[in-house]
Amino acid sequence: MIRWQSESIWEAVAPLLAGFTVEVLPEIDSTNSELMRRARAGRTEPVLLVGERQTAGRGRLGRAWESAPGDSLTFSLGLEMAPADWSGLSLAVGVSVAESLDPAVRLKWPNDLWLQDRKLGGILIETASFGNGAATARYAVIGIGINIAPRPAAGLATPPAWVRELLPQADGSGVLQRLAAPLVRDVLGFAQAGFRPFHARFDARDALRDRPVTLSDGTAGTAHGVSEAGALLVHTAAGLRPITSSEVSVRPAAS
Ligand code: BTN
Repeated sequence: MIRWQSESIWEAVAPLLAGFTVEVLPEIDSTNSELMRRARAGRTEPVLLVGERQTAGRGRLGRAWESAPGDSLTFSLGLEMAPADWSGLSLAVGVSVAESLDPAVRLKWPNDLWLQDRKLGGILIETASFGNGAATARYAVIGIGINIAPRPAAGLATPPAWVRELLPQADGSGVLQRLAAPLVRDVLGFAQAGFRPFHARFDARDALRDRPVTLSDGTAGTAHGVSEAGALLVHTAAGLRPITSSEVSVRPAAS
């Protein structure tokens, strides 16, 4: 059984975020789904919700997110935000988490955490409007799943990576403790200043930079970093193409 250090996470984060709470549930369908349900019911207080077991974890593009209790860290941070521009939030979150973990952790646009070209974790951000809908503020649900220990590779194109490859003694609680306060600080920084302050930090960890990529529509090109708004820039035969759609998946081309 994991002993979550909820109190020390709360102590580190509460000064940054008034009304913040930490909640650990032994089982939930999905921490993202739960916070989205609460937001729709008018509950938009800032919270970090950990699910020890998710029975219906969700990934991007409608995929399932499989995880086993103890072997992975699955949580969502929910908070009200009103950035002038939401573009690049998932990249900023990736930068924050990668920097808290290890210099070897890299980012695969738009929001995968990678270790030696294998997926270490993923980010799923959803937002809900609340109140009368006239204000620009929304409730952001920032869901993060990180593999802590080895997990089955069946059905995956490349085997996953896990945190204990880097930090042999790590557990979900320690990893959460390590990344929670910097994450909240960075998300609040994003709400103030947008993606711009994260641009160089993303560049420093960009796993695709100068590598051949294939877009999901079959277009081949070379990744050339990200724009000021967080779009992936791809050199294709038709010129430099900014990729913004979250429906586009990008993979290193077979060499
Ligand atoms: C992806 O890489 O496709 C994103 C995965 C996001 C998974 C996390 S686990 C916690 C939160 N709850 C969910 O149902 N999904 C996110």
